[in-house]
Amino acid sequence: MANMGTIEQCRRFFAEYVVRVAGAENERLIEAFSCVARERFVGPGPWLVSVGRGYLRTPDDDPRQLYQDILVALDPGATINNGQPTLHACCVDAAGLCLGETVVHVGAGSGYYTAILAQMVGPHGEVVAFEVDAALARRARSNLAACANVGVRAASATEAAIPPCDVMYVNAGVTDPPSAWLDALRIGGRLVFPLTTDSGNGLMLKVTRTGPDRYAARALLYAGFVACVGARRAVTSNSLAAALRCDSIERIRSLRRNTPPDATAWCCGEGWWLSTASPG
Ligand SMILES: C[S@@+](CC[C@H](N)C(=O)[O-])C[C@H]1O[C@@H](n2cnc3c(N)ncnc32)[C@H](O)[C@@H]1O
Repeated sequence: MANMGTIEQCRRFFAEYVVRVAGAENERLIEAFSCVARERFVGPGPWLVSVGRGYLRTPDDDPRQLYQDILVALDPGATINNGQPTLHACCVDAAGLCLGETVVHVGAGSGYYTAILAQMVGPHGEVVAFEVDAALARRARSNLAACANVGVRAASATEAAIPPCDVMYVNAGVTDPPSAWLDALRIGGRLVFPLTTDSGNGLMLKVTRTGPDRYAARALLYAGFVACVGARRAVTSNSLAAALRCDSIERIRSLRRNTPPDATAWCCGEGWWLSTASPG
């Protein structure tokens, strides 16, 4: 790797690469990826890189190898990885984070994308990060100790109280977004989360609360994620699997709560459903 340039040059190139590939024109996001050192969050090298089923070991512990569009194992036994940079660049961009906003991050892992979110909201914003795995939560707390605008909670975000927020950024696969998450969104707030079947595959969905009981929704991209503890039902997984087989994710326009599904239903969960009609 002698001719790859310095670690700072690799990080800067990586930042521009992942944000541009994500189709985002977002200079603040490029800055955020440029200034957060991935090697501080993924443990000592050599690293295990996900190849779908299983992992490949990097040749050595040169951290410049981390500045590629790769998933890096955090806990290979549980298949918990530091997620794909281009996917997160796309989804963080879609969340439309502004300086000073409050973000709830669900599934912080060891904290790499929490640190990116903290950069995006700046010193007057706040990130409340939940991680249900106690060992990962400890790693996140230690890795993020210098970020004054981040609080790490070693708890399930499906059981803990969720503070009112502008953005919820979820990194574990859900079939049924808990009511408490939708209630926590301020008007104008955005919930970005993986809506996945029990196979782990599905889509990233952006839900925007446009009124007290009104939610616009749109699919961002197909994605695979490990399961979110406490936010899954087999019945909804089946409804979602059928919709993914038969319908286009591009037709999703809104999320409805506490009303019976009508002919515009795209897929149905418990107390909520996705509609192909605008929020109205
Ligand atoms: C795909 S990993 C992502 C980790 C991290 N965002 C990253 O990319 O480095 C998903 C994480 O969500 C966590 N998780 C699952 N269910 C959760 C819940 N209900 N509350 C908080 N964390 C949860 C898992 O323990 C795991 O660490």
